[in-house]
Amino acid sequence: MEEMIVAEQEKNIMQYETVALDEQENALVIIDQTKLPGEVSILHLKEQKDIWQAIYLLQVRGAPAIGVAAAFGLYLAAREIQADTWESFYPVLQKARDYLNSSRPTAVNLSWALNRMVKVAEANQEKSIAAIKDLLRKEALAIKAEDVWMCRQIGEYGLTLIQDGAGILTHCNAGQLATSKYGTALAPIHLGRERGMNFRVFCDETRPLLQGARLSAFELMADGVDTTVICDNMASQVMKNGWVDAVFVGCDRVAANGDACNKIGTSGVAILAKYYGIPFYVLGPTSTIDMNIEKGADIVIEQRPSEEVTEMWYQQRMAPSGVKVYNPAFDVVDHELIAGIVTEYGIARAPFTQSLQEIFRKKAQNNQ
Ligand code: MRU
Repeated sequence: MEEMIVAEQEKNIMQYETVALDEQENALVIIDQTKLPGEVSILHLKEQKDIWQAIYLLQVRGAPAIGVAAAFGLYLAAREIQADTWESFYPVLQKARDYLNSSRPTAVNLSWALNRMVKVAEANQEKSIAAIKDLLRKEALAIKAEDVWMCRQIGEYGLTLIQDGAGILTHCNAGQLATSKYGTALAPIHLGRERGMNFRVFCDETRPLLQGARLSAFELMADGVDTTVICDNMASQVMKNGWVDAVFVGCDRVAANGDACNKIGTSGVAILAKYYGIPFYVLGPTSTIDMNIEKGADIVIEQRPSEEVTEMWYQQRMAPSGVKVYNPAFDVVDHELIAGIVTEYGIARAPFTQSLQEIFRKKAQNNQ
């Protein structure tokens, strides 16, 4: 396996790049997020199967970061294709795209980024294979640069929704570790920090893979944020105490009607927020909005291995051997529970079927 692990202790986690391309080594560089917060291990991945596995195992995770990693992965695959003609190059590129796309089903950013890469190749098929490969490299780098821009914009719009000192509850990790920089749900917090603001953030631990406790709490503390980890079943109490002014969560796929799919447990948080009269916001780039999907019920939900629930974090397995386990990785928040969907082109509000179309109109105008 083309993998190099470097243990680094000195740097603050906010100073690392979540996903990068090493152009000297021709490798995808990621932080192994399965080891955080205990150890910062940097993986240099060159082989397709290792990149596929890194996405499947959540060594790189979070919808935008998965998209960027896959784009770099497809460029690296394209580099290795031994072909002189478009006819021999294209089927191999498609195969690599389909392979990487099979690593996780729910976050639409994966297929969005991969299809965008293949379209660049298709649009330039009359060029030499060397030129096409270079265009793929540039496109993957552009996808990453746009991700940084989108997250910053989301941070700007998100900041208009909260006051300095506000209490925010978040679920899973939709922070810098889930994107190229800033994050989505945590972008307003990080951007606010740059401006000398502070917030009280409650991180749901987020069973079963603990992205809230391991990742959100880690990056927020590194950024000097007042951070409190709570077990998922404590959110109601924290809201009842009056400590939460707004809920900010990320998303993996938003349907055209505003139904938002995010980490398992998010829909429960939205229901609680409604009960306590707390605004519930979904923050995500347009690359996570799938206008081809009419409603949340049509989104494919990833099912994950039972060991994640029964064994992974315990010295001894904690449930009887042979017990049935249900382990969906995501759930869908009904659009009626959502106060707004914060994108890089503004905040969509109900009725989402219209407001999301308006967001895409703004995007099209901006790209003219
Ligand atoms: O399974 P994960 O850790 O990839 O799930 C991540 C989430 O659910 C995030 O909230 C979502 O991808 C948004 S990341 C900006």
